[in-house]
Amino acid sequence: MESIDWSNLSFGYMPTDYNVRCIYKDGKWGDITVTSSQTFEIHMAATCLHYGQEAFEGMKAFRGKDGKIRIFRMDENAARLQSSCRGIMMPELPTEKFNEAILTVVKKNERFVPPYESGASLYIRPLLIGTSAQVGVKPAKEYLFIVFVSPVGPYFKEGFKPTPMAILRQYDRAAPLGTGRYKVGGNYAASLVAGEKAHELGYSAVLYLDAKEKNLDECGPANFFGIRGNSYITPKSTSILPSITNKSLMQLAEDMGMTVEVRQIPEDEIGTFDEAGACGTAAVISPIARIDDLDENKSYIFSKDGKPGPICEKLYNKLRAIQYGDEPDTHKWITIVE
Ligand code: PLP
Ligand code: COI
Repeated sequence: MESIDWSNLSFGYMPTDYNVRCIYKDGKWGDITVTSSQTFEIHMAATCLHYGQEAFEGMKAFRGKDGKIRIFRMDENAARLQSSCRGIMMPELPTEKFNEAILTVVKKNERFVPPYESGASLYIRPLLIGTSAQVGVKPAKEYLFIVFVSPVGPYFKEGFKPTPMAILRQYDRAAPLGTGRYKVGGNYAASLVAGEKAHELGYSAVLYLDAKEKNLDECGPANFFGIRGNSYITPKSTSILPSITNKSLMQLAEDMGMTVEVRQIPEDEIGTFDEAGACGTAAVISPIARIDDLDENKSYIFSKDGKPGPICEKLYNKLRAIQYGDEPDTHKWITIVE
């Protein structure tokens, strides 16, 4: 077996032993199959290639000190994929089928779940695509669901260290009442130009404003939250993805006695926050060092000493402790892979 440097993994694709698949045909989902092929043949007129019938998910499995493998909030990802399916006219994958696929692929690739001490995890990537031929703009009749996994380290190479983010007013990611609230490929294609520009300028991500009112929306791959005093404040918008990590942090903030506010956040309010962060499965919590609004020549600073703020740190430690099984799973967020 090849040796993997678990402690120095980046967030990327690494081939593993197996992936699982499930086909939708003649109006129903088939059985889950296991394969070691990393490719598949597809019809050149498949709707995913032309009309963007593609949705995906992102979740993680963690190995605890006790050696057990824990999957975080699997049912929430199943529900969000169903919401994405409704959003772009794909048949919903039943939760039981989704869960069976996830448990199978993790179990089959058990040897790729990083050891506890590494602080790494197994990223799980489910995706669903329209595969049958269509030339008119119409939903496909056949679909393919695939789940593959890859051991990963931090999404932002800095890990749990504050990084700068940029507001780029020349670019929007999604429209209000559009597809921003679904996890569909098109949203990410729409974020590539601004994302590359931000990276070239030394920022870790773009912080998008909503396209209409120009209130705070979210980052390219993660939700935004701000901390002011005892409040956890996060944007309400029809163009952001409902993050499962954000939902969990809101619960943990409440458990810690904080007030949670989900509402529109005008850009000027950023200046009143003591701390700010980006949160998501891949990003976990990525504390924000500084937000620069490049077109308006404004800058909001949260960390001058390179350290995360105390609330970000407390939330991060609490979330990770639950995910790795160091603390009791009081909210029933964990599925143990038997
Ligand atoms: N927002 C966007 C655009 C994302 O791609 C992600 C990643 O899934 C998130 C937010 C965070 O969502 P979650 O916490 O469910 O991973
Ligand atoms: C995730 O956090 O799971 C994501 O999907 C974010 C990004 C890699 C697209």
